[in-house]
Amino acid sequence: MSAETGRARVAASILDADLSNLAYAVRRVEKAGADRIHLDVMDGHFVPNLTFGAKTIKHLRPRTELPFDAHLMISEPGRYIDEYLDAGCDSITFHVEIEEPIEPTLRRIRAAGRAAGLAVKPATPLSAVAPFRELLDIVMVMTVEPGFGGQSFMADVARRKIPLARELLAHKLYGAEIHVDGGVHRETAEIVGGLGADILVVGSALWIEGHDMGREIRLIRALADEGYQHQLNGGVPPIPRDKMVTFATLPRPQAKRLQAEIEAAGVPVLLFRARDDMGDEAVAPGGKTHWDLLLPASAEAGVAARFGERRATLERELAAAPRPA
Ligand code: DX5
Ligand code: ZN
Repeated sequence: MSAETGRARVAASILDADLSNLAYAVRRVEKAGADRIHLDVMDGHFVPNLTFGAKTIKHLRPRTELPFDAHLMISEPGRYIDEYLDAGCDSITFHVEIEEPIEPTLRRIRAAGRAAGLAVKPATPLSAVAPFRELLDIVMVMTVEPGFGGQSFMADVARRKIPLARELLAHKLYGAEIHVDGGVHRETAEIVGGLGADILVVGSALWIEGHDMGREIRLIRALADEGYQHQLNGGVPPIPRDKMVTFATLPRPQAKRLQAEIEAAGVPVLLFRARDDMGDEAVAPGGKTHWDLLLPASAEAGVAARFGERRATLERELAAAPRPA
């Protein structure tokens, strides 16, 4: 899926890239089709980890065309904000938990024509950012403790805060974004998308050796969009599930055997107790209940071509079986 279709956007975090070769990392992310680059700045004080600062970002700026989202996990963003603006960040998000005035820094970012954001740690209520809502272009919901990549996604935090963030930004008809940062990957993208996040920050999932980064990004975007579509449709997938058709009716042991054989060929098979026209359980010779093997209608022809003979053999065996006296 190209970035022009669909809804969700992926901001690739380079936190888990080879930090000695960031120019290569941003080029690689761009080639893989990421929508943005998410830059995690840590000062070893606000969080117990240290990364890179404005100078590194400035030197990275000419290496890629992608927008730069800076995520400042630092105690004094106000003191350094001009450096990050000068470095060419397109958006700057800092934390609402800092112990200095927030509003002047938000205003400074906006005055420079950049997008301004506030991030909230998992334990901080979203109401903490409410007083600043008129000045916010971005609300960043952290679904891990800030500081490190590769932690597990806090689904309860996402479920609680993303809808609140949407409400908080409702006064902005256009351009306001919810970023979700921490533990987003192919297993969690559908939830995040379904909750209405605009930007999925993805870090460690992109830097797994041997993984195709482009495929990972496309997958995450597609899953997020699918989650969003389901949610719009009241939890029902918008594309109707395949109709199920009865492929065979057999006693349970034979039905189980055929089910296993067909499933080994990659087609899902459901087993249900068979009913006769009167709605009663259909009973086979020997008093055994019959079972219906159901499979997706779209797979029926292929399964018939491959397993039709097998079905006929099982049916012949049954017909030949001696009836109980
Ligand atoms: C954590 C950072 C995240 C981090 C996400 O403090 O803010 O941006 O890179 O990494 P993953 O996707 O591995 O959770
Ligand atoms: Zn981040």
